[in-house]
Amino acid sequence: MEKVRIGVIGVGGMGSAHCKQVQEIEETALACVCDVDPAVAEKKGQELNVPFFTDYHALIDSGLADAVIVATHHWLHPEIAIYAFSKGLHVLSEKPIAVTVSDADRMVKAARKSKKVFAVMYQRRTEPMIRKALEIIQQGQIGEIRRTMCVEPWYRTQAYYDSGTWRATWVGEGGGVLINQAPHGIDLFTLLGGLPSLVQARTRTRLHRIEVEDEACALLEYPNGAWGYYYVTTCEAIGPYHMEFAGDKGKLIIRGNELKLYTCTPSVPEFTFAASGMWASLEVKEEPIQLPEGLPSGHGAIIQNFARAILYGEPLLSPGVEGRNSVEFINAMILSGHTGKPVKLPVSRRRYDRLMEELKKSSKPKETVKVVRETDPKFKQA
Ligand SMILES: NC(=O)c1ccc[n+]([C@@H]2O[C@H](COP(=O)([O-])OP(=O)(O)OC[C@H]3O[C@@H](n4cnc5c(N)ncnc54)[C@H](O)[C@@H]3O)[C@@H](O)[C@H]2O)c1
Repeated sequence: MEKVRIGVIGVGGMGSAHCKQVQEIEETALACVCDVDPAVAEKKGQELNVPFFTDYHALIDSGLADAVIVATHHWLHPEIAIYAFSKGLHVLSEKPIAVTVSDADRMVKAARKSKKVFAVMYQRRTEPMIRKALEIIQQGQIGEIRRTMCVEPWYRTQAYYDSGTWRATWVGEGGGVLINQAPHGIDLFTLLGGLPSLVQARTRTRLHRIEVEDEACALLEYPNGAWGYYYVTTCEAIGPYHMEFAGDKGKLIIRGNELKLYTCTPSVPEFTFAASGMWASLEVKEEPIQLPEGLPSGHGAIIQNFARAILYGEPLLSPGVEGRNSVEFINAMILSGHTGKPVKLPVSRRRYDRLMEELKKSSKPKETVKVVRETDPKFKQA
């Protein structure tokens, strides 16, 4: 069977887990690896028995790979992806695709020009519960969405922040919880509920010794007038995450691993004016939910789907162009948090670039860093 030859760029942490997946998936072969840290590049190359590089240009120019997985820190995703597209390679970028919407625009433009496959690692899209939630919303079972809500605690220790010079700095990462932990949730939140048209946010550093935000919240307004609220933090240790989408005809609730669907007949606007009783109330029903079975999920599912899109034109589960939505949301949150003013979407590219330049100038080198390159144990394969 024909296999897509993949080069993985950035193999210290998450990229290392991707290498193992690439070796196991039927449609992919690990062709080579690259890391700017020579010790990491050599160790991974030898361990996985593939050629290794310390310069991503050299990997892309080598002709060894048809596609790359970009798993460096986020600022570099656009630069590497754009170079790969210019050389005719397909790209699977780690999340977020970029730190700024202007960079995300450049990536999308380069992908379109090259006509190569562009995907983003939003693996939570493959969870059966999320696939089902999307189907329910797309089938109109909750009607038009009138309110959304998302609360996501992603606890992190100070040791986590001290494990890399780039982590939690404006220069190294371009944000805190919003740019690092929040993108998966924001991807799902905007996939299911759409992008708001206005964000009024507050951001702050509450607990950790870092220069970027570890807590953020916002009031949201959508193009149809719907409202929403959003909260994310690395300061809260107790989950689960919680999302709600309330529509005219029903409500969808995602709470940890649980998906609930409630419907009402007739719809709220119809009943409101048709009911004659002063205390009349709608009949609300909890609907049984049958989750899809036997479908692949996780990082491996995204890599396999990326390869199948290249080989057979299979539709992407997580298209790179859709990766721009979470960047739009994050940029709106940070811009509003820093100006104290509501921000309209699409975010002004010029204003955001200007803010980011100022924030980068204010960035200070970290005093206590003990570099640890380690994949989150949740993502290590048995
Ligand atoms: N999808 C997920 O579930 C998930 C989970 C964790 C991290 N991530 C994402 O993966 C990316 C990397 O995060 P991490 O935690 O693995 O970071 P990390 O610091 O552990 O690893 C990044 C690696 O990239 C290397 N690198 C830096 N500059 C490079 C360059 N110019 N060329 C080649 N290699 C270079 C570093 O030396 C390092 O080994 C981030 O964007 C993060 O958001 C995604």
